[in-house]
Amino acid sequence: MARPLISPSILSADFAKLGEEVHAIDEAGANWIHIDVMDGHFVPNLTIGPGVVKALRPHTAKPFDVHLMISPVDNFLDAFAEAGADIITVHPEAGPHVHRTVQHVRSLGKKAGVSLNPATPAKMLDYLLEEIDLVLVMSVNPGFGGQKFIASQLRKIESIANQVAKKNLVVDIEVDGGIDAVTAPQAIDAGATVLVAGTAAFRGGPGKYAANIAALRGDG
Ligand code: DX5
Ligand code: ZN
Repeated sequence: MARPLISPSILSADFAKLGEEVHAIDEAGANWIHIDVMDGHFVPNLTIGPGVVKALRPHTAKPFDVHLMISPVDNFLDAFAEAGADIITVHPEAGPHVHRTVQHVRSLGKKAGVSLNPATPAKMLDYLLEEIDLVLVMSVNPGFGGQKFIASQLRKIESIANQVAKKNLVVDIEVDGGIDAVTAPQAIDAGATVLVAGTAAFRGGPGKYAANIAALRGDG
């Protein structure tokens, strides 16, 4: 089984000490730090903005994998880039011209990702795959941590992985939602290269983070 990158979602961290949490999960072996940005409009929850991303930036050198669940999204791209995002992922439903949006992200010198909700088909990527660095397959409906993995998304991951191989592209396939030691190997087998985990990464507090990440990688 290929070795995945692990991108823990700080949505499940202790928000009262986010700097320490980011540092601890970095030390525990996280490859990227997944930051879920929600606006209470595109998704039914509110989280954090560019100010918090900027405040977290000195606490780790790992890439910030910023998942924007906000609409309209375009006006916030510069702010997240300036705050220290390395990868900026958007949903095609969150703006009128997703192709323009990903071009804008790349023009800021950042990696561009597109996220597909559970009901959004892989076909959405037909004219985007060459323009992006990452596809984020949502294996839950976005908005909350701790939801159950939607198994039909494995087929979508497979189909995207086939497209990436066929077109000979370098595009990461990241899966987000309900990832634990049981669903992680299923996602990797389907072709995922990056695993997001909130609940499963932060469960048990800082003393457990290294073991949690090892279990997700299959090293457990
Ligand atoms: C949901 C977020 C996810 C979520 C994952 O909208 O995008 O990143 O926090 O949490 P778990 O791993 O608990 O499903
Ligand atoms: Zn996310």
